[in-house]
Parts: sequence; structure tokens; C-alpha cells
Amino acid sequence: MKVLIATEKPFAPSAVQGITAELKNAGHEVVLLEKYTEKAELLEAVKDADAMIVRSDKVTPEVLDAAKQLKIVVRAGAGYDSIDTAYAKEKNVVVENTPGQNSNAVAELVFGLLVYAVRSFYNGKAGTELMGKKLGILAFGNVGRNVARIAKGFGMEVYAYDAFCPAEAIEAAGVHACKTQDELFQTCDVLSLHIPATPQTVKSIDYRLVNLLPKKGILINTARKEVINEEELLKLMAEREDLKFVTDIMPDADAEFKKFEGRYFSTPKKMGAQTAEANNNAGIAAAKQINAFFDTGDTKFQVNK
Ligand code: 3PG
Repeated sequence: MKVLIATEKPFAPSAVQGITAELKNAGHEVVLLEKYTEKAELLEAVKDADAMIVRSDKVTPEVLDAAKQLKIVVRAGAGYDSIDTAYAKEKNVVVENTPGQNSNAVAELVFGLLVYAVRSFYNGKAGTELMGKKLGILAFGNVGRNVARIAKGFGMEVYAYDAFCPAEAIEAAGVHACKTQDELFQTCDVLSLHIPATPQTVKSIDYRLVNLLPKKGILINTARKEVINEEELLKLMAEREDLKFVTDIMPDADAEFKKFEGRYFSTPKKMGAQTAEANNNAGIAAAKQINAFFDTGDTKFQVNK
């Protein structure tokens, strides 16, 4: 089978080697399309692919229509909002993700951003410490759990809310469970977002909700830019000069947010999962899932059943 690795944002070289070895050992042919800039390049490359490994690459109906032989797409990572899963299902294409494989990398970056934010963006002026502060985790999945683990090392008080995870499971992890999302925002000095982008969550982080944060609150986003209501957050940051917003996903309104000097920072490109370890874990897991699919029909990680 021909397996296309299509990554606009490439994996670390060690991950590409590992993925290729894994697939070749199972008898598959591997084609690599990295750093492509034109959609046409992807449409051409996918034409005769039986399987595909992607990151946040957009797998649209146009891509799926061009991929006449495609049987499986594996998103080497957690979020699959960049893939039209319903259309893939119509075309009998299995879509899978590799949950948990890059979550530690994202969680570590939360603290990279957080220390930077509380230490006045390293401008030389006195900042604050994390010890004793309340950290709120919105969505207690793989990333949220890693964030909780690391936060305890910093001596933070950790709170979480997850619409789909029972309070008992949150408390079993040694984290205070809030009853509602509002309670989480009202309680915590720092609020870290780990919700996926779904029709229910898009633009859900809005003026009303963020305004519940106590004085000097910090909002951190390492999830998806779409969950933020940018217009409303801009309005709130103009009104509340105590708020900070740090993000690993550059908002569409980056230029406007930049006006809040000393209160806003965005990485130039989403880099939460940009570690060799995360790329190896997620990429090799993706290759193994493709091998299992062609070997035994295994679809354990299918997200479009
Ligand atoms: C994910 O959903 O797994 C993370 O956001 C990482 O995405 P990336 O592979 O595009 O860096």
C-alpha cells in the first residue's frame, strides 16, 4: 500500500525515520510531502495514496475526492477538526487520531507560556510566582491531566471542569472538581483551555465567561483558536487592564491583540506538539495504526464510526 505523509508543518527528522521504518517493515511504500505551500501539491500527492498521515493539515472534501484510493487517514495528534470526518465517512474513509501521544509536550508548553506571562514577559520588571495560585483546567483529557500533574510540582492549587468527565474522576486525580464552567472561571487565577473545537465550543470563550476571572487573571490557550470569541475578548481586554492572554494558536486578530503590550503573547506558529518526543510518539503510533488497519482491519482509534 502507498502511505502518504503529508505535513505542512513537518515532523522532526527522527520521527520521519521512525514512521518510515515502521511502515516499510510492514511492506508499505512511503511518500513524503513536507512543507507544501499550495493545495495543488497535496491534491496531486494524494491521488494514488491508500493511506495518509497528517498533522493539522486540512483534509477537505476536495482532498478526499482527489484521493481515489484512500482508505484511511490518521491524524498524528489529538484534534481532528481539520478533517471533514463526515464526508470521509460518506466516502468510506476511516479517520483516526492518536490520542495522548503528544499531550505532555502541549502541557509543558502551558508552563513555558505561563512562567513567561507571570514574569512580565521577561522585561526585567518584578513579576509574580505560580506557587499558591489557583490554576483552572477546562477539559480534563490527556493534556489537562498532564497540566494538572505539572501544576502540582509548581505548588499550584489545581481545579478542573469537564462537561464529559465525572467529578469523581477529576477528584481521583487529586484535583478539585468545579461543578460548572462558570465556577472554574470565577475560582481560578489562571485558566488553561483544553477543549476541542466543536460546534458547542466554537466562540464559547467569550466576554461574559472570561470576565468571571478574578483580578489579574490569565487566560492560556493551547487548544484551538476557534474556541475564543476574539471580538469579545478584545473588548474585554480593552476594559480590563488587569487581564493577560497568552496563546499557542495565533488569533486571527493577532495585530489587534498585540496592542495590549505586556498583556498578550502568541507563538508565531502552533508549537505545543513541536517536540521530537511528541512527533515520534504521535507519528509512530499513526504508522502502527495504519499497519494494524491493513493487517487485521483494526479501527480502534476511528473517530468517524
Ligand atoms: C493536536 O491536536 O494534537 C495538537 O494541537 C498538535 O497539533 P499539530 O500536530 O498541528 O502541531
